[in-house]
Amino acid sequence: MMKMGPLTIVLAITGMAILLVAPFSCKGKKGEPIPTMEGIAKMDIQRQPFGNLPDGSQVELFTLTNSHGLKARIMNYGATVISLDVPDRNGQRGDIVLGHDSLEGYLSPAQNPYFGSIVGRYGNRIARGRFILDGVEYQLATNIGPNHLHGGLKGFDKVLWTSEPVQEEGAVGVKLRYLSPDGEEGYPGNLTVTVIYWLTDEDELKIAYEAESDKPTPVNLTHHSYFNLAGQGQGDVLGHELMLNADYFTPVDEELIPTGEIRPVAGTPWDFTKPKPIGAEIAAVPGGYDHNFVLRGETGTLKLAARVHEPSTGRVMEIYTTEPGVQFYSGNFLDGTITGKGGKVYQKHFGFCLETQHFPDSPNHPHFPSTILRPGQKYTSLTIHKFSISS
Ligand code: BGC
Repeated sequence: MMKMGPLTIVLAITGMAILLVAPFSCKGKKGEPIPTMEGIAKMDIQRQPFGNLPDGSQVELFTLTNSHGLKARIMNYGATVISLDVPDRNGQRGDIVLGHDSLEGYLSPAQNPYFGSIVGRYGNRIARGRFILDGVEYQLATNIGPNHLHGGLKGFDKVLWTSEPVQEEGAVGVKLRYLSPDGEEGYPGNLTVTVIYWLTDEDELKIAYEAESDKPTPVNLTHHSYFNLAGQGQGDVLGHELMLNADYFTPVDEELIPTGEIRPVAGTPWDFTKPKPIGAEIAAVPGGYDHNFVLRGETGTLKLAARVHEPSTGRVMEIYTTEPGVQFYSGNFLDGTITGKGGKVYQKHFGFCLETQHFPDSPNHPHFPSTILRPGQKYTSLTIHKFSISS
Protein backbone atom coordinates (compact mmCIF):
# COMPACT_ATOMS: atom_id res chain seq x y z
CA MET A 1 0.00 0.00 0.00
CA MET A 2 1.11 3.46 -0.86
CA LYS A 3 1.66 5.95 1.99
CA MET A 4 -0.15 9.26 1.70
CA GLY A 5 2.69 11.67 2.48
CA PRO A 6 1.36 15.25 2.54
CA LEU A 7 -2.41 15.12 2.37
CA THR A 8 -2.71 17.82 -0.18
CA ILE A 9 -0.31 18.91 -2.83
CA VAL A 10 -0.89 21.60 -5.31
CA LEU A 11 1.04 21.63 -8.53
CA ALA A 12 0.86 24.77 -10.59
CA ILE A 13 1.43 24.34 -14.28
CA THR A 14 2.39 27.46 -16.14
CA GLY A 15 3.12 26.40 -19.70
CA MET A 16 0.20 25.61 -21.97
CA ALA A 17 0.60 23.44 -25.03
CA ILE A 18 -1.56 23.04 -28.05
CA LEU A 19 -2.50 19.42 -28.55
CA LEU A 20 -2.50 18.46 -32.16
CA VAL A 21 -5.50 16.44 -33.23
CA ALA A 22 -5.57 15.55 -36.92
CA PRO A 23 -8.24 17.39 -38.94
CA PHE A 24 -10.84 14.62 -39.04
CA SER A 25 -13.85 14.90 -41.27
CA CYS A 26 -16.52 16.04 -38.84
CA LYS A 27 -20.26 15.61 -38.97
CA GLY A 28 -22.85 16.92 -36.56
CA LYS A 29 -23.06 19.89 -34.25
CA LYS A 30 -19.54 21.16 -33.75
CA GLY A 31 -18.72 23.10 -30.65
CA GLU A 32 -16.72 26.26 -29.96
CA PRO A 33 -13.85 26.30 -27.45
CA ILE A 34 -14.82 26.88 -23.81
CA PRO A 35 -13.65 30.36 -22.69
CA THR A 36 -11.23 30.91 -19.82
CA MET A 37 -13.06 31.07 -16.52
CA GLU A 38 -12.49 34.11 -14.33
CA GLY A 39 -10.55 33.43 -11.16
CA ILE A 40 -9.03 30.20 -12.47
CA ALA A 41 -5.66 31.08 -13.86
CA LYS A 42 -3.78 27.82 -13.65
CA MET A 43 -4.16 24.09 -13.93
CA ASP A 44 -3.72 22.18 -10.72
CA ILE A 45 -3.85 18.81 -8.99
CA GLN A 46 -4.99 18.18 -5.47
CA ARG A 47 -4.61 14.89 -3.63
CA GLN A 48 -6.55 13.87 -0.55
CA PRO A 49 -7.87 10.77 1.24
CA PHE A 50 -11.29 9.44 0.20
CA GLY A 51 -12.15 6.89 2.88
CA ASN A 52 -11.03 3.35 3.58
CA LEU A 53 -11.80 -0.07 2.15
CA PRO A 54 -13.12 -2.78 4.50
CA ASP A 55 -9.53 -4.12 4.86
CA GLY A 56 -8.40 -0.69 6.10
CA SER A 57 -6.51 0.43 3.00
CA GLN A 58 -6.83 4.07 2.22
CA VAL A 59 -8.40 5.30 -1.00
CA GLU A 60 -7.02 8.46 -2.60
CA LEU A 61 -8.86 11.15 -4.51
CA PHE A 62 -7.21 13.38 -7.12
CA THR A 63 -8.83 16.61 -8.28
CA LEU A 64 -7.60 17.86 -11.66
CA THR A 65 -8.58 21.37 -12.78
CA ASN A 66 -7.92 23.34 -15.95
CA SER A 67 -8.11 27.08 -16.64
CA HIS A 68 -11.51 26.87 -18.37
CA GLY A 69 -13.23 25.50 -15.29
CA LEU A 70 -13.14 21.81 -16.18
CA LYS A 71 -12.65 19.65 -13.11
CA ALA A 72 -12.22 15.87 -12.93
CA ARG A 73 -12.23 14.00 -9.60
CA ILE A 74 -10.66 10.56 -9.84
CA MET A 75 -10.13 7.95 -7.13
CA ASN A 76 -7.74 5.02 -7.18
CA TYR A 77 -10.40 2.46 -6.17
CA GLY A 78 -11.44 1.11 -9.57
CA ALA A 79 -9.46 3.94 -11.25
CA THR A 80 -12.79 5.72 -11.15
CA VAL A 81 -13.87 9.15 -12.42
CA ILE A 82 -16.31 10.21 -9.73
CA SER A 83 -17.21 13.63 -11.13
CA LEU A 84 -16.53 15.69 -14.23
CA ASP A 85 -17.51 19.35 -14.15
CA VAL A 86 -17.82 21.03 -17.55
CA PRO A 87 -19.15 24.57 -18.24
CA ASP A 88 -22.27 24.98 -20.37
CA ARG A 89 -22.80 27.73 -22.96
CA ASN A 90 -23.53 30.24 -20.14
CA GLY A 91 -20.39 29.35 -18.21
CA GLN A 92 -22.34 27.34 -15.62
CA ARG A 93 -20.39 24.32 -14.48
CA GLY A 94 -22.30 21.05 -14.20
CA ASP A 95 -21.24 17.54 -13.22
CA ILE A 96 -21.89 15.40 -16.32
CA VAL A 97 -21.22 11.89 -14.97
CA LEU A 98 -23.33 9.65 -12.75
CA GLY A 99 -21.86 8.30 -9.53
CA HIS A 100 -21.79 8.64 -5.76
CA ASP A 101 -20.76 11.31 -3.28
CA SER A 102 -18.76 8.93 -1.11
CA LEU A 103 -16.80 5.68 -1.32
CA GLU A 104 -19.60 3.74 0.35
CA GLY A 105 -21.87 3.99 -2.71
CA TYR A 106 -19.12 2.65 -4.97
CA LEU A 107 -18.55 -0.34 -2.67
CA SER A 108 -22.18 -1.50 -2.85
CA PRO A 109 -22.62 -3.81 -5.89
CA ALA A 110 -26.34 -2.96 -6.14
CA GLN A 111 -25.53 0.77 -6.25
CA ASN A 112 -22.59 0.63 -8.63
CA PRO A 113 -22.95 -0.63 -12.21
CA TYR A 114 -19.30 0.23 -13.05
CA PHE A 115 -19.85 4.01 -12.65
CA GLY A 116 -16.82 5.85 -14.10
CA SER A 117 -14.41 2.97 -13.63
CA ILE A 118 -11.73 1.30 -15.71
CA VAL A 119 -13.07 -2.06 -16.84
CA GLY A 120 -10.79 -5.07 -17.30
CA ARG A 121 -9.18 -7.48 -17.88
CA TYR A 122 -11.84 -7.78 -20.60
CA GLY A 123 -14.52 -5.15 -21.23
CA ASN A 124 -17.99 -6.55 -22.00
CA ARG A 125 -18.98 -10.20 -22.42
CA ILE A 126 -17.19 -13.48 -23.10
CA ALA A 127 -19.71 -16.22 -23.87
CA ARG A 128 -19.89 -18.85 -21.09
CA GLY A 129 -16.65 -17.30 -19.77
CA ARG A 130 -14.78 -19.68 -22.07
CA PHE A 131 -12.22 -19.40 -24.81
CA ILE A 132 -9.45 -21.48 -26.35
CA LEU A 133 -6.01 -19.92 -26.67
CA ASP A 134 -3.05 -21.80 -28.22
CA GLY A 135 -5.06 -25.05 -27.89
CA VAL A 136 -5.76 -24.62 -24.15
CA GLU A 137 -9.32 -24.02 -22.92
CA TYR A 138 -9.71 -21.39 -20.19
CA GLN A 139 -12.71 -20.99 -17.90
CA LEU A 140 -13.21 -17.49 -16.53
CA ALA A 141 -15.44 -16.45 -13.64
CA THR A 142 -19.06 -16.09 -14.76
CA ASN A 143 -20.94 -13.14 -13.29
CA ILE A 144 -23.84 -12.39 -15.63
CA GLY A 145 -25.93 -15.53 -15.94
CA PRO A 146 -23.68 -18.15 -17.57
CA ASN A 147 -21.41 -15.47 -19.12
CA HIS A 148 -18.42 -13.33 -18.15
CA LEU A 149 -18.86 -9.52 -18.00
CA HIS A 150 -16.33 -6.74 -17.47
CA GLY A 151 -13.54 -8.87 -15.98
CA GLY A 152 -15.60 -11.13 -13.72
CA LEU A 153 -16.60 -11.10 -10.06
CA LYS A 154 -13.77 -8.77 -9.07
CA GLY A 155 -12.70 -6.86 -12.15
CA PHE A 156 -10.34 -3.89 -12.36
CA ASP A 157 -13.24 -1.65 -11.27
CA LYS A 158 -13.19 -3.31 -7.82
CA VAL A 159 -9.48 -3.19 -6.99
CA LEU A 160 -7.25 -0.54 -5.47
CA TRP A 161 -4.71 0.84 -7.94
CA THR A 162 -1.49 2.53 -6.87
CA SER A 163 -1.57 6.16 -7.87
CA GLU A 164 0.56 9.26 -8.30
CA PRO A 165 0.06 12.73 -9.75
CA VAL A 166 1.70 13.49 -13.10
CA GLN A 167 2.08 16.62 -15.19
CA GLU A 168 3.30 17.70 -18.58
CA GLU A 169 3.01 20.90 -20.57
CA GLY A 170 -0.66 21.84 -20.79
CA ALA A 171 -1.91 18.86 -18.82
CA VAL A 172 -2.28 17.49 -15.31
CA GLY A 173 -3.04 13.88 -14.57
CA VAL A 174 -3.05 10.84 -12.38
CA LYS A 175 -1.14 7.67 -13.17
CA LEU A 176 -2.68 4.44 -11.90
CA ARG A 177 -1.08 0.99 -11.83
CA TYR A 178 -2.41 -2.47 -11.15
CA LEU A 179 -0.81 -5.90 -11.26
CA SER A 180 -3.41 -8.52 -12.13
CA PRO A 181 -1.94 -11.85 -10.96
CA ASP A 182 -1.77 -15.00 -13.09
CA GLY A 183 -5.08 -16.85 -12.70
CA GLU A 184 -7.08 -13.87 -11.48
CA GLU A 185 -10.74 -14.43 -12.47
CA GLY A 186 -9.41 -17.34 -14.57
CA TYR A 187 -7.15 -15.29 -16.87
CA PRO A 188 -3.65 -16.53 -17.74
CA GLY A 189 -0.56 -14.44 -17.04
CA ASN A 190 0.60 -11.72 -14.70
CA LEU A 191 -0.67 -8.56 -16.35
CA THR A 192 0.80 -5.17 -15.43
CA VAL A 193 -1.55 -2.34 -16.33
CA THR A 194 -0.95 1.40 -16.35
CA VAL A 195 -3.69 3.93 -16.98
CA ILE A 196 -3.12 7.68 -17.06
CA TYR A 197 -6.01 10.12 -16.96
CA TRP A 198 -4.95 13.53 -18.30
CA LEU A 199 -6.98 16.73 -18.09
CA THR A 200 -5.62 19.17 -20.68
CA ASP A 201 -6.02 22.87 -21.21
CA GLU A 202 -7.52 21.96 -24.59
CA ASP A 203 -10.56 20.74 -22.59
CA GLU A 204 -9.85 17.07 -23.02
CA LEU A 205 -10.01 14.13 -20.68
CA LYS A 206 -7.44 11.76 -22.19
CA ILE A 207 -7.17 8.15 -21.09
CA ALA A 208 -3.93 6.37 -22.01
CA TYR A 209 -3.63 2.64 -21.34
CA GLU A 210 -0.62 0.29 -21.37
CA ALA A 211 -0.33 -3.37 -20.42
CA GLU A 212 2.18 -6.22 -20.57
CA SER A 213 1.80 -9.90 -19.74
CA ASP A 214 4.14 -12.83 -19.07
CA LYS A 215 1.71 -15.30 -20.75
CA PRO A 216 -0.63 -14.92 -23.72
CA THR A 217 -3.95 -13.48 -22.52
CA PRO A 218 -6.96 -11.60 -23.84
CA VAL A 219 -6.97 -7.90 -22.86
CA ASN A 220 -9.67 -5.35 -23.61
CA LEU A 221 -9.62 -2.29 -21.37
CA THR A 222 -12.20 0.48 -21.39
CA HIS A 223 -13.65 3.34 -19.40
CA HIS A 224 -17.21 3.15 -18.09
CA SER A 225 -18.51 6.67 -17.32
CA TYR A 226 -22.25 7.18 -17.60
CA PHE A 227 -22.66 10.62 -19.18
CA ASN A 228 -25.54 13.05 -19.04
CA LEU A 229 -24.41 16.28 -20.68
CA ALA A 230 -27.39 18.15 -19.16
CA GLY A 231 -25.96 17.29 -15.72
CA GLN A 232 -26.12 14.11 -13.67
CA GLY A 233 -29.63 13.37 -12.43
CA GLN A 234 -31.17 15.94 -14.81
CA GLY A 235 -33.55 13.59 -16.61
CA ASP A 236 -32.96 11.08 -19.37
CA VAL A 237 -30.50 11.34 -22.26
CA LEU A 238 -32.97 10.54 -25.05
CA GLY A 239 -32.82 14.14 -26.36
CA HIS A 240 -29.01 14.12 -26.68
CA GLU A 241 -27.98 14.18 -30.34
CA LEU A 242 -25.51 11.41 -31.12
CA MET A 243 -23.26 10.83 -34.10
CA LEU A 244 -21.31 7.57 -34.34
CA ASN A 245 -18.57 7.26 -36.93
CA ALA A 246 -19.57 3.69 -37.75
CA ASP A 247 -21.08 2.02 -40.82
CA TYR A 248 -21.42 -1.40 -39.15
CA PHE A 249 -22.38 -2.87 -35.78
CA THR A 250 -22.22 -6.32 -34.23
CA PRO A 251 -25.74 -7.72 -33.56
CA VAL A 252 -26.24 -9.72 -30.37
CA ASP A 253 -28.35 -12.65 -29.16
CA GLU A 254 -30.78 -12.50 -26.23
CA GLU A 255 -27.85 -12.76 -23.76
CA LEU A 256 -26.17 -9.76 -25.45
CA ILE A 257 -23.42 -11.95 -26.93
CA PRO A 258 -22.38 -11.02 -30.49
CA THR A 259 -23.70 -13.48 -33.05
CA GLY A 260 -20.53 -12.94 -35.13
CA GLU A 261 -22.33 -11.00 -37.84
CA ILE A 262 -21.00 -7.58 -38.84
CA ARG A 263 -24.11 -5.80 -40.14
CA PRO A 264 -24.44 -2.48 -41.99
CA VAL A 265 -26.25 0.21 -39.95
CA ALA A 266 -27.78 1.78 -43.07
CA GLY A 267 -31.56 1.80 -42.91
CA THR A 268 -31.64 0.52 -39.29
CA PRO A 269 -32.16 2.22 -35.88
CA TRP A 270 -28.38 1.71 -35.39
CA ASP A 271 -27.58 4.30 -38.06
CA PHE A 272 -26.01 7.26 -36.23
CA THR A 273 -23.77 8.27 -39.13
CA LYS A 274 -25.79 11.50 -39.21
CA PRO A 275 -26.61 12.96 -35.79
CA LYS A 276 -30.00 12.11 -34.34
CA PRO A 277 -31.51 12.10 -30.85
CA ILE A 278 -30.68 8.92 -28.90
CA GLY A 279 -34.42 8.45 -28.39
CA ALA A 280 -35.41 8.86 -32.05
CA GLU A 281 -35.61 5.15 -32.85
CA ILE A 282 -34.83 3.52 -29.51
CA ALA A 283 -38.34 2.01 -29.30
CA ALA A 284 -37.43 -0.20 -32.26
CA VAL A 285 -34.36 -1.61 -30.45
CA PRO A 286 -35.38 -4.42 -28.07
CA GLY A 287 -34.11 -3.49 -24.60
CA GLY A 288 -32.47 -0.29 -25.86
CA TYR A 289 -28.99 0.25 -27.31
CA ASP A 290 -26.30 -2.05 -25.89
CA HIS A 291 -24.20 -2.74 -28.98
CA ASN A 292 -20.69 -2.55 -30.30
CA PHE A 293 -20.21 -0.24 -33.29
CA VAL A 294 -17.39 -0.86 -35.76
CA LEU A 295 -15.51 2.41 -36.19
CA ARG A 296 -14.35 3.75 -39.52
CA GLY A 297 -10.57 3.98 -39.83
CA GLU A 298 -7.56 2.02 -38.71
CA THR A 299 -7.13 0.24 -35.40
CA GLY A 300 -4.22 1.88 -33.60
CA THR A 301 -4.80 5.26 -35.27
CA LEU A 302 -6.55 8.07 -33.42
CA LYS A 303 -9.88 8.81 -35.11
CA LEU A 304 -13.22 10.36 -34.35
CA ALA A 305 -15.56 7.78 -32.81
CA ALA A 306 -18.53 9.83 -31.62
CA ARG A 307 -19.93 13.29 -31.14
CA VAL A 308 -22.69 14.05 -28.64
CA HIS A 309 -24.53 17.37 -28.37
CA GLU A 310 -26.97 18.30 -25.62
CA PRO A 311 -29.20 21.07 -27.03
CA SER A 312 -30.43 22.72 -23.80
CA THR A 313 -26.96 23.34 -22.31
CA GLY A 314 -24.94 23.48 -25.54
CA ARG A 315 -22.42 20.96 -24.20
CA VAL A 316 -20.62 18.97 -26.88
CA MET A 317 -18.45 15.89 -26.28
CA GLU A 318 -16.34 14.34 -29.01
CA ILE A 319 -14.61 11.02 -28.51
CA TYR A 320 -11.43 10.06 -30.39
CA THR A 321 -9.88 6.64 -30.01
CA THR A 322 -7.28 4.21 -31.32
CA GLU A 323 -9.70 1.31 -30.67
CA PRO A 324 -11.65 -0.45 -33.46
CA GLY A 325 -15.03 -0.30 -31.69
CA VAL A 326 -17.28 1.58 -29.29
CA GLN A 327 -19.97 0.02 -27.12
CA PHE A 328 -22.97 2.35 -27.05
CA TYR A 329 -25.06 1.55 -23.97
CA SER A 330 -28.14 3.70 -23.36
CA GLY A 331 -28.43 3.06 -19.60
CA ASN A 332 -31.17 0.46 -20.12
CA PHE A 333 -30.68 -1.29 -16.78
CA LEU A 334 -30.93 1.89 -14.69
CA ASP A 335 -34.34 1.54 -13.07
CA GLY A 336 -34.63 4.00 -10.18
CA THR A 337 -33.05 1.69 -7.59
CA ILE A 338 -29.80 3.68 -7.45
CA THR A 339 -29.62 6.94 -5.54
CA GLY A 340 -26.50 8.80 -6.61
CA LYS A 341 -24.80 12.15 -6.12
CA GLY A 342 -26.85 14.84 -4.41
CA GLY A 343 -29.65 12.33 -3.74
CA LYS A 344 -30.50 12.06 -7.45
CA VAL A 345 -32.38 8.90 -8.37
CA TYR A 346 -31.15 7.36 -11.62
CA GLN A 347 -34.05 6.19 -13.77
CA LYS A 348 -33.90 4.29 -17.07
CA HIS A 349 -31.80 6.08 -19.72
CA PHE A 350 -30.55 8.74 -17.24
CA GLY A 351 -27.01 8.17 -18.57
CA PHE A 352 -25.27 6.72 -21.61
CA CYS A 353 -21.90 5.01 -21.98
CA LEU A 354 -19.59 5.13 -24.99
CA GLU A 355 -16.98 2.51 -24.19
CA THR A 356 -14.12 2.52 -26.69
CA GLN A 357 -12.79 -1.01 -26.98
CA HIS A 358 -12.27 -4.13 -29.08
CA PHE A 359 -15.42 -6.10 -29.87
CA PRO A 360 -17.18 -8.14 -27.15
CA ASP A 361 -16.45 -11.90 -27.13
CA SER A 362 -13.54 -11.48 -29.58
CA PRO A 363 -11.64 -14.54 -28.24
CA ASN A 364 -14.50 -16.65 -29.67
CA HIS A 365 -14.74 -14.85 -33.04
CA PRO A 366 -11.48 -15.24 -35.00
CA HIS A 367 -12.66 -12.73 -37.65
CA PHE A 368 -12.93 -9.91 -35.05
CA PRO A 369 -9.74 -7.85 -34.42
CA SER A 370 -7.56 -9.85 -32.03
CA THR A 371 -7.50 -9.05 -28.32
CA ILE A 372 -4.64 -11.43 -27.52
CA LEU A 373 -1.58 -9.90 -25.87
CA ARG A 374 1.57 -12.00 -25.95
CA PRO A 375 4.74 -11.78 -23.84
CA GLY A 376 7.13 -9.22 -25.31
CA GLN A 377 4.29 -7.21 -26.84
CA LYS A 378 2.91 -4.00 -25.37
CA TYR A 379 -0.81 -3.24 -25.29
CA THR A 380 -1.43 0.48 -25.87
CA SER A 381 -4.68 2.34 -26.28
CA LEU A 382 -5.70 6.00 -26.22
CA THR A 383 -9.13 7.62 -25.91
CA ILE A 384 -9.79 11.37 -25.80
CA HIS A 385 -13.00 13.02 -24.63
CA LYS A 386 -12.97 16.58 -25.97
CA PHE A 387 -15.44 19.13 -24.64
CA SER A 388 -16.76 22.30 -26.28
CA ILE A 389 -19.97 24.34 -26.42
CA SER A 390 -22.47 25.16 -29.15
CA SER A 391 -24.11 28.57 -29.33
C1 BGC B 1 -22.79 -3.34 -20.97
C2 BGC B 1 -24.17 -3.57 -20.42
C3 BGC B 1 -24.06 -3.70 -18.94
C4 BGC B 1 -23.42 -2.46 -18.37
C5 BGC B 1 -23.11 -2.63 -16.90
C6 BGC B 1 -22.25 -2.10 -20.37
O1 BGC B 1 -20.96 -1.91 -20.82
O2 BGC B 1 -22.78 -3.28 -22.36
O3 BGC B 1 -24.77 -4.73 -20.99
O4 BGC B 1 -25.28 -3.93 -18.34
O5 BGC B 1 -22.20 -2.22 -18.98
O6 BGC B 1 -23.87 -1.89 -16.12
